[in-house]
Amino acid sequence: MAMRIDGKAISAQIREEIKEATAAFVAEKGYAPGLAVVIVGEDPASQVYVRNKALACEQVGFYSEVHRLPAQTKQEELNALVDRLNADEKIHGILVQLPLPKHLDETEVLLRIDPSKDVDAFHPYNVGKIMIGDYDFLPCTPAGVMALLERSGIDPAGKNCVVIGRSNIVGKPMAMLLLHANGTVTICHSRTKNLAEVTREADILVVAIGRADFVGADMVKPGAVVIDVGMNRREDGKLTGDVNFEEVEPIASAITPVPGGVGPMTITMLLQNTLTAAKK
Ligand code: GUN
Repeated sequence: MAMRIDGKAISAQIREEIKEATAAFVAEKGYAPGLAVVIVGEDPASQVYVRNKALACEQVGFYSEVHRLPAQTKQEELNALVDRLNADEKIHGILVQLPLPKHLDETEVLLRIDPSKDVDAFHPYNVGKIMIGDYDFLPCTPAGVMALLERSGIDPAGKNCVVIGRSNIVGKPMAMLLLHANGTVTICHSRTKNLAEVTREADILVVAIGRADFVGADMVKPGAVVIDVGMNRREDGKLTGDVNFEEVEPIASAITPVPGGVGPMTITMLLQNTLTAAKK
């Protein structure tokens, strides 16, 4: 039976550390790290994320602002808000919640955020820094996975690490972080041939494809570490990951549950990035 990697507990521990570091920061500087979150439109999932981000800020002693803009907001209005936040000394981190309504250009907005306030690490400047291995900010989800591994005593060095998924937000930076940690890294995607053959070679398997219960026992090497980044809703409303937990848990050596694995770590990493930005 696999060790369950408890993302809730590890996240709570790191938030406690951030809270202490924040108190020390405030005592020294006389102001708190500040995060601005921008949300455009009414997407219900985004509303929940944004509320949780604001709550998390409060919990660790940050200053936070949420800017809720109507769905019909024009590009120039959104750009002007980003410009204002870039210039605002109270604000050290800016996050524009994605996805944006279709008529808005995401790339234009992300390029406009001052890279030193880009706590999502989505700006090409920060993406490039991650490639080189000289970074201030890591994208929250891959950073959360690395923190889970580290705090569970799992070292990727020399291991076969397989990432399923090649998105800019998760798959690609995830592969890069595992590489920086000296893993031997393979990225798989929808065009990969003989996927199960590749994934069965993995000592560490990270799954981020967004398909419920996609990875079964036939795709996992006995004793592998399995990290499930997926967050899918079943027809009965239950949350489930990209990994068939019931099937895989008995053969893995360690596994993250959904919910309660990677999910709780992402906002924690956002807090970490905001504190880093404030310290700069
Ligand atoms: N939408 C879903 N996840 C994220 C995230 O990590 N950052 C932003 N900006 N939008 C998101």
